[in-house]
Amino acid sequence: MKILVTGGAGFIGGNFVHYMLNKYPDYQIICLDKLTYAGNMETLAPVMDKLNFTFVKADIADRDAVYGIFEKEKPDIVVNFAAESHVDRSIENPSIFLQTNVMGTQVLLDASRKYGVSRYHQVSTDEVYGDLPLDRPDLFFTEETPIHTSSPYSASKAGADLLVQAYHRTFGLPATISRCSNNYGPYHFPEKLIPLMIANVLNGKPLPVYGDGKNIRDWLYVEDHCAAIDLILHKGRVGEVYNIGGHNEKTNLEVVQIIIDALGKGEIQFVTDRKGHDQRYAIDPTKIHNELGWLPATKFEDGIKKTIQWYLDNRDWWENILSGEYQDYYERMYGDR
Ligand code: NAD
Ligand code: DAU
Repeated sequence: MKILVTGGAGFIGGNFVHYMLNKYPDYQIICLDKLTYAGNMETLAPVMDKLNFTFVKADIADRDAVYGIFEKEKPDIVVNFAAESHVDRSIENPSIFLQTNVMGTQVLLDASRKYGVSRYHQVSTDEVYGDLPLDRPDLFFTEETPIHTSSPYSASKAGADLLVQAYHRTFGLPATISRCSNNYGPYHFPEKLIPLMIANVLNGKPLPVYGDGKNIRDWLYVEDHCAAIDLILHKGRVGEVYNIGGHNEKTNLEVVQIIIDALGKGEIQFVTDRKGHDQRYAIDPTKIHNELGWLPATKFEDGIKKTIQWYLDNRDWWENILSGEYQDYYERMYGDR
C-alpha cells in the first residue's frame, strides 16, 4: 500500500505520518509538502531515514510537479492535509487560501483521476458548518448541517469540499471527506491558541484572549484524529462525509486557565476580537461512531498534560519557529491590538 500524504510537514499531517509509519511498517508513505512557514522538517526528522518514507518538496497547486509525483510514485491512496490553515492569516490575506485550498485541491483531484487511486481523502474542518449560538448547547454539527462559512479560510475549505463531492458524483472518483473539530497535541504551530499560550507563558509574555474569551471550541487530541482518518481510509464508505469530534467543549478562557494552572503562571490580556469570530463549534460524531466504531482514546485532562510536557521537552522545536517569520507575524497580529 502506497499512501501520498500532502501537508505532512505540518501539525496534523506530521502526526499522521508518524502514526501510520508506526502502525503499518509495511506501507510506503510519500509526503508532499511545500514547506510554507507552517511546514517544518524537524517534525519529520525522526522518520527521514526510514526506507518506507519519502519526502518531496512541492506545491499541491503546481500541476506539473504533482503529476510528476503521481507518475513516479503511483499512490494507491491520497490524503490531503495540505492547506493554509490559520483563520487570522486568512483575514489578513485571503488569496493564498484560495490558491492552495481550492486550486491545489483541484490539482490533486485531477491527478487522482488521471493516474487512478483507490481512495482520495480530503481532510476538512468543522468550520465549514459556520458556528452555533452560545445559548443553544443542545445544537451540534451533523453531516447534514448546511455549509455556512464565516472566514476566508473556512470558505476556501468549503469550496474544496464541494469540489471533492463534485468529482465523486461527476467522475466517480472514490473520495471521502472528514470534518474534524479543533486539534491539539505535539508539533502544533505556535500561532494557534493552545501552543501560543504555552509558548507565551514559558517566555513570560501576556496571554492574548480575543474578545471576552467566551467562544467555545471542541478540542480533540491529534492522535484521535489520525486514528479516525485511518479508519475512514480502511472502512469508510466512498462518497461519504464523516464528522470527527469527542464532545469536549471548552471556552477559550477555560483552556487558557488550564494552561496557567498547569504551568503555575501566566497573565491573561483581553485583546480586540477576531473579525467575524465564530461563537461555538460542537461536533456530533454519531455517524463515525456507529458506522466505524471510532471513539476518542485521550481525555482532555490527559491530552493537555501530555501536550504541555511535549512543549517543555521540545523547546528547540518551537523556539526555532519563534525566531523566524513568526516574529513579524506576531508584531502585525498582536502589536497594537
Ligand atoms: P498546518 O498549517 O500546521 O500545516 C499545513 C501543512 O501544509 C504545512 O506543512 C504546509 O507547509 C503545507 N502546505 C501549505 N500549503 C501547501 C501547498 N500549496 N502545497 C503543499 N503543501 C502545502 O495545518 P494543520 O493544522 O496541520 O491542518 C492540516 C489540515 O487539517 C488542514 O487541511 C486543515 O484545514 C485541517 N484541519 C485542521 C484542524 C486543526 O485544528 N488544526 C482541525 C480540522 C481540520
Ligand atoms: O475547528 C477546526 C479549526 O480549528 C481548523 O479548521 C483550523 O485550521 C484551526 O486553526 C482551528 O481554528 P480556530 O480559529 O478555532 O483556532 P485558533 O487556535 O486560531 O483559535 C481558537 C480560539 O481561540 C478561537 O476562538 C480564537 C481564540 N484565540 C486564538 C488565538 C490565536 C484567542 O483568543 N487568542 C489567540 O491569540
